[in-house]
Amino acid sequence: MLASGLHYAAAWRGRTVVVKYGGSVLDAGDAGTVIEDLVLLKGAGVNPVLVHGGGPEITRMLDRLGKETLFVQGLRVTDAETMEIVEMVLAGRANKALVTMISMAGGSAVGLSGKDAGLLQASRLQAPEGLGFVGEVVGVRGAIIQTISDAGHIPVVASVGIGEGGESLNLNADHAAGALAAALGASKLVILTDVPGVMRTGPGEPEMLSTLSVGEVRQLMADGIVSRGMIPKVEACLNALAGGVPSAHIIGTSTPHALLIELFTEAGIGTMITTQAG
Ligand SMILES: Nc1ncnc2c1ncn2[C@@H]1O[C@H](COP(=O)(O)OP(=O)(O)OP(=O)(O)O)[C@@H](O)[C@H]1O
Ligand SMILES: [Mg+2]
Repeated sequence: MLASGLHYAAAWRGRTVVVKYGGSVLDAGDAGTVIEDLVLLKGAGVNPVLVHGGGPEITRMLDRLGKETLFVQGLRVTDAETMEIVEMVLAGRANKALVTMISMAGGSAVGLSGKDAGLLQASRLQAPEGLGFVGEVVGVRGAIIQTISDAGHIPVVASVGIGEGGESLNLNADHAAGALAAALGASKLVILTDVPGVMRTGPGEPEMLSTLSVGEVRQLMADGIVSRGMIPKVEACLNALAGGVPSAHIIGTSTPHALLIELFTEAGIGTMITTQAG
């Protein structure tokens, strides 16, 4: 067990792993072992890149300012004033909180948003209509990530993109992570969330699906089994795979050291999506 773990660790040295950490997990105020795992991975020579959202905290801040939050098809309607708050919370508070947690855990992190060094080029989403400053990634300038990683730091990326006119655009963090993984030539995309993986509710207990092919994922979406917050996650996985990332995973943070288990054990944890049939 220990020996095979060390074999895996050796095999992962120098490789890039993009990890997405959701706002809902952050909100719990308890990052569990995620931060420790990132620091341990970095120490083992892996290059983790953290991408984060911050949905609940944005909503809380908007509440405090007396601004109502509207969602259309799960996307936050983002007018100019809301975008200011989104950027303040994501690139400010949430980003610096994660950077600080990594630092307190003995690592070193550099926080940036998709605007820094032109990292996440975005354009406004055309549909559904009336979303305002909501964007999708249309290009990635990933060189800055390599520079930060090579210098021994963990890059922490807030999901704000830069539009054609220099404007800030609110990006879905799952989608941003998928696009970044593909552009960086990452060896793995890991999306952490508050459920153990992609679940199927049948007549009995909910079942966790440990391996899914691209076709199976499409079927689960068509059947409505994958819904709401899970939709952008599987989409991000499919995009990463299409962009050449060999495997994409959706895993829960409730198991201690889920990230290390995923990387350094044969069985892994949560749901793995691959281009291989099965
Ligand atoms: N088939 C499914 N299997 C598992 N979860 C599902 C499924 N379909 C929908 N979901 C929902 O997706 C949720 C995870 O997405 P969600 O967007 O809430 O979390 P997050 O992205 O980690 O955090 P946040 O969006 O707050 O940053 C689960 O809690 C569950 O309610
Ligand atoms: Mg989400």
